[in-house]
Amino acid sequence: MEVLDIMRARTSRRSYTSSPIPKDSIEKLQDTIEYLNRKSGLHIQLVLDGEAAFKSFKKTYGMFSGVKHYFAMVGNSSDPLLHEKVGYYGEYLVLVATELGLGTCWVGSSYDAQNCNCEILAGEQLVCVITVGKSPESLSSRERLVLSMVKEKSKKYDELCQYDKQPPEWFWDGMKAVELAPSARNRQPVQIIYYNDVIYATTGQFQYNKIDMGIAKLHFALGAGGRFELGEHGRFYKDEETV
Ligand SMILES: Cc1cc2nc3c(=O)[nH]c(=O)nc-3n(C[C@H](O)[C@H](O)[C@H](O)COP(=O)(O)O)c2cc1C
Repeated sequence: MEVLDIMRARTSRRSYTSSPIPKDSIEKLQDTIEYLNRKSGLHIQLVLDGEAAFKSFKKTYGMFSGVKHYFAMVGNSSDPLLHEKVGYYGEYLVLVATELGLGTCWVGSSYDAQNCNCEILAGEQLVCVITVGKSPESLSSRERLVLSMVKEKSKKYDELCQYDKQPPEWFWDGMKAVELAPSARNRQPVQIIYYNDVIYATTGQFQYNKIDMGIAKLHFALGAGGRFELGEHGRFYKDEETV
C-alpha cells in the first residue's frame, strides 16, 4: 500500500471489538517499537489487556468503547524534544498499525493515566497513549457523535504552509500528507515553511502542539521522501531515511 493510501485509510477509532490482535501483527508492532525506541531513546510499550485505563467514565467522558490495548508513550522527562519525538515516532507506529488493518486513536486526556499498566522508570514520564485494536468496519453511532464533538473544521494543505517562492513539486506531496495528519481536536496548528530554499516547521505553545508538530513532520517526511530534524529550527532533508 502507498503511504498516502495508508494515511487516507487512517481515521481515529474509538470503538473496538473483542477480536484479539493477530499474533503476527503483535510481533510486527513489537519489532517496530523496538526499532523506534532504539532510534529515538523513547520507552514506547505495547500494553495488551490494559482496559483499566479506559474503565472510568469520568476520565474517558464515555468517548471510547471496548479499548483493551494501547501504546504507552513513555520517555525521558528531561528531554526537551520529548513531546515532538512522541509525535514523530508514535505516528509512524500508528501508520504501521493502520497498514495491519488495526484501528488507532491518539489519547492525550480522555483516559485514566493512574491506571495505565506500563513501566515508567525513574526520570521518565507517560506523555499520552494511543489505543490500538480491531475496530468495526464502519464507524459506530457513538463514534459519529464523538466525531461531531471533537473534530473542528479541517484545513486544506495550502492553508498549512507558507513560502517565499514556488516550492518544488515534491513539497506538495509532503503537504498532502500533512493535511491527513491527526492533531489534538483537529486544530492542525503546524505550519510548514519554505523559505530561502530551507524547509522547517512552526507551531504555537499550547498543550499538545509539540506532539502535533512531531506528527505533522513525520507525515511531511513520508509524503515528500526525506527526514525532518526534530526541534524548533529542525530542517527537512530530502532523500534521507525518515526514521
Ligand atoms: C496529541 C493528540 C491528543 C489527542 N487526544 C485525544 C483525546 O484525549 N480524546 C480523544 O477522543 N481524541 C483525542 N485525539 C484525537 C483527535 O481528536 C483526532 O486526531 C482529530 O479530531 C482528527 O481526527 P482524525 O484523527 O480522525 O483525522 C488526540 C489527537 C492528538 C494528535
